[in-house]
Amino acid sequence: MKGSVFSQEPIVALDIGTTKICVLVAQETADGSIEVIGIGKSTSHGLKKGIVVDINKTIHSIKRAVQEAELMAGCKIESACIGISGSHVQSINSQGVVPIKRKEVTQVDIKNVLASAQAVALPEGQQILHVLPQYYVIDSHERVKDPLGMYGVRLEAQVHIITGALSCVQNLVKCCESLNIKVTDIVLEQLASALAVLSPDERQLGVGVLDIGGGTSDFALYHNNSIIYTMVLPVAGDHFSNDLALGLRITLEDAERVKQVGGFVNPQGFEQDGMIEVESVQGGIHKNILLSELCAILQPRASELFNLINQELEQRKLKQFLSAGIVLTGGGSLLEGMQELATEIFGVPVRIGKPKSKDNLLESLDNPKYATGYGLLLHELQERSKKVRGHFSGPLVMRIAARMKSWVSDFF
Ligand SMILES: Nc1ncnc2c1ncn2[C@@H]1O[C@H](COP(=O)(O)OP(=O)(O)OP(=O)(O)O)[C@@H](O)[C@H]1O
Ligand SMILES: [Mg+2]
Repeated sequence: MKGSVFSQEPIVALDIGTTKICVLVAQETADGSIEVIGIGKSTSHGLKKGIVVDINKTIHSIKRAVQEAELMAGCKIESACIGISGSHVQSINSQGVVPIKRKEVTQVDIKNVLASAQAVALPEGQQILHVLPQYYVIDSHERVKDPLGMYGVRLEAQVHIITGALSCVQNLVKCCESLNIKVTDIVLEQLASALAVLSPDERQLGVGVLDIGGGTSDFALYHNNSIIYTMVLPVAGDHFSNDLALGLRITLEDAERVKQVGGFVNPQGFEQDGMIEVESVQGGIHKNILLSELCAILQPRASELFNLINQELEQRKLKQFLSAGIVLTGGGSLLEGMQELATEIFGVPVRIGKPKSKDNLLESLDNPKYATGYGLLLHELQERSKKVRGHFSGPLVMRIAARMKSWVSDFF
């Protein structure tokens, strides 16, 4: 990091969303937490449903946010951790088994059992992004979280594997590298958001986190401090606005505005008779529409989204793990009535999650749409402390930086 006045390399997070790009630069504090020293935001162009569809526009959008963050932080950004989403992301649960070579589990045994759990047939064009250990079993005894140093002869690991399309990953990396930003890590967006908004107790008891962005809604289910299920749905905030534009024959810009100003999805407790002025898509003609008309269009879309997830959880018998309920985050969670509607459909407590910080978080980050960006910072902080402790970086999230390097050099 050139031009930095800090003793330690700052941590940089790059959230390349469908509607906005957010760059956060942070400094590790003496007590091991982080202080955000630079923020850059720009409107995102060039992505659809979380996937790069126009490289040049994406590069341009990232550049604007990066320049703003560099100016505020007073340093040049040379590397960053980025988030990834999109319907190309898939997940599977897998197991691995290895003999414990020296009767006592070492880092090498853990590395080997995780490697053995990864030996699964992947669909064409998919690459492993994360290998998230759920638990280990030694000699068929009780499940353990950290087997290091324990005695036995046979080590088993149960893992959750997340894969993504190689081409989508490469396009994101290419955009960053074109701006001379080295990608240090790629993290599934809902994992980052979960780090920012969930409490340790929620993760332990069992909780779902749903990041409703502009292009995708990203869900992750935690239980016993491990990820047990993830899913990415191509239905999110932009679809709500599109529905309004089509249903009311108004411009997309106006649809976005009325959604944020007067939109709601849960009729109870909202003023139904209020009116809002909109401009017709043909231009010029202004008309007033009832707020209840907005709800009539937005509510079915929100119900569809929550029902899709609820049905999937019911089919997979995963609802029992929602003891601490569901946390909604992402900009889409700001639509009025989402919390109430989700509570009704899931039948569990639902809250809206914003980035949480031990220190005073900058006011401009006090919004669910910055959960992913802030979570990426926390992820990088965790990885850094693991490196300092000389810890094998597999147990929580397997680092992919080395592999990324080879993907990139193979293809560009
Ligand atoms: N006050 C609000 N009321 C309703 N919707 C809102 C509000 N503020 C933002 N949104 C919606 O949130 C969405 C953007 O959320 P967010 O910034 O989390 O998405 P993103 O990270 O850019 O996209 P993605 O994660 O899908 O790639 C947009 O669809 C926007 O309309
Ligand atoms: Mg997002």
